[in-house]
Amino acid sequence: MTDSIDAPPGPEGSQEIAGPWADERDVVAAAVEWAARRVLRPGDPRATARPASELAARAGQTITAEGIGGAAALSLFDQVLEPATRAQDGVLNLAYIPSAPTDAAIAFDLVTSAANIFGGMWEAGAGAIFAENEALAWLVRLLGWPTTAGGCFVSGGTMGNLSALAAAREYTTHCRGGRPGGGWRLACTTEVHSSIRAAARILDVGVLEVGLDDRGHLTGDALRQALADSDDVFAVVAPAGTTNAGVIDDLADVADVCTERALWLHVDGAYGGAGLAAPSVRGRFAGIERADSFIVDPHKWLFAPYDCCALLYRAPELARAAHAQHAGYLDEIDREEWNPADLAIHLSRRARGLPFWFSLATHGTARYTQAIEQTIATATAVAEAIRHFTHLRLIMEPELSVVLFERPGWSDAEYRAWSRRNATEGVILCLPTRWHDRFVLRLAFVNPETTAERVIEILADLG
Ligand SMILES: Cc1ncc(COP(=O)(O)O)c(C=O)c1O
Repeated sequence: MTDSIDAPPGPEGSQEIAGPWADERDVVAAAVEWAARRVLRPGDPRATARPASELAARAGQTITAEGIGGAAALSLFDQVLEPATRAQDGVLNLAYIPSAPTDAAIAFDLVTSAANIFGGMWEAGAGAIFAENEALAWLVRLLGWPTTAGGCFVSGGTMGNLSALAAAREYTTHCRGGRPGGGWRLACTTEVHSSIRAAARILDVGVLEVGLDDRGHLTGDALRQALADSDDVFAVVAPAGTTNAGVIDDLADVADVCTERALWLHVDGAYGGAGLAAPSVRGRFAGIERADSFIVDPHKWLFAPYDCCALLYRAPELARAAHAQHAGYLDEIDREEWNPADLAIHLSRRARGLPFWFSLATHGTARYTQAIEQTIATATAVAEAIRHFTHLRLIMEPELSVVLFERPGWSDAEYRAWSRRNATEGVILCLPTRWHDRFVLRLAFVNPETTAERVIEILADLG
């Protein structure tokens, strides 16, 4: 092993060429230096969206015939633009589903960009795709799926869900010899992520809404009842970690019903799928080993930067049948090789799984387990403290790392005001959500560096 890495040799006989971009060298150095500093320095939690008119006034004309120059553009980004974007990795950013990439993953994102790999086809991106597949194989092992399972990385959970459901619809249409007269429907509860309804609209399929239990789960019984009179359902979507409350549907019972009715089971683990690597909650995912497709976003709880969703199929050949694109100029591609372009709705793609692979390879899966367990422990400790506070009420025990709680007596306006004040002061980003038609507060933990003590201290003063 050497301590330093020499610059890679250029092609034989290569030399500096004066071309249209000949003056870029200084820009490259400055941009890389800026990035290196940012990796190691947390973003300012007070950074917040500014109106476009204010940004326009401060930025001035940025696109000009002559160009404003790299130094000016970078300075603009540093002084005006980045301060108007929220750092997703702040330890007290606990809203939506945040992101907490490792430094290794972010640094390797730069490497991935610099290598500018076409990750759609094996013949162009073999090395990168091999590494991506190594990371996917770890997820396949966590799922308990056969080693013949596989998939690819897409931009996010929305694209992953859409691609999986497109494959499910294609397969079911093929098996049933056509689509039903009234069209297909997918079955799910109201607690699925909004991207499932978006996928249904794009795929031109309906939604069969299945009732929830009082904690927000889809159960086997409810699904069986809902399906009793329908033969137009092509897939069941079950979240493994709902966005709002972090609960996992009753996957084993749901899988039983899917087997009985020969239905495709898609598990949306965009946020919660990371919990498969945590022994303390792994049992809650029982039944996932029988799903047909699955997604998890490494940019959520698997410590990779945006934008990265792992999309997996139990039988990748079914995805190929739905997604492979054909054209004169593509027909020479070797379809026996692993071509990620054949497995989702995309063709050109960056090898966006590489930062996740690099972080996993660098730190090892045991450290991943430890980091995920750490966030679960933090969520559990915060929930425990809330249960003991007399001014707060815990809505339910967290199943993963989302905590819902309320401040009895507060109006919607008071929730909003508290949340906004703390966000603008950079104290904590904790937004209200709706639970059973009322306002409650929500904390989503994905960052192992968030401490329960600091969150509890803030909540002690709430109101
Ligand atoms: C359960 C679930 N599914 C899908 C998505 C959509 O993922 P993305 O924002 O990466 O498109 C989210 C986002 O929060 C989610 O929580």
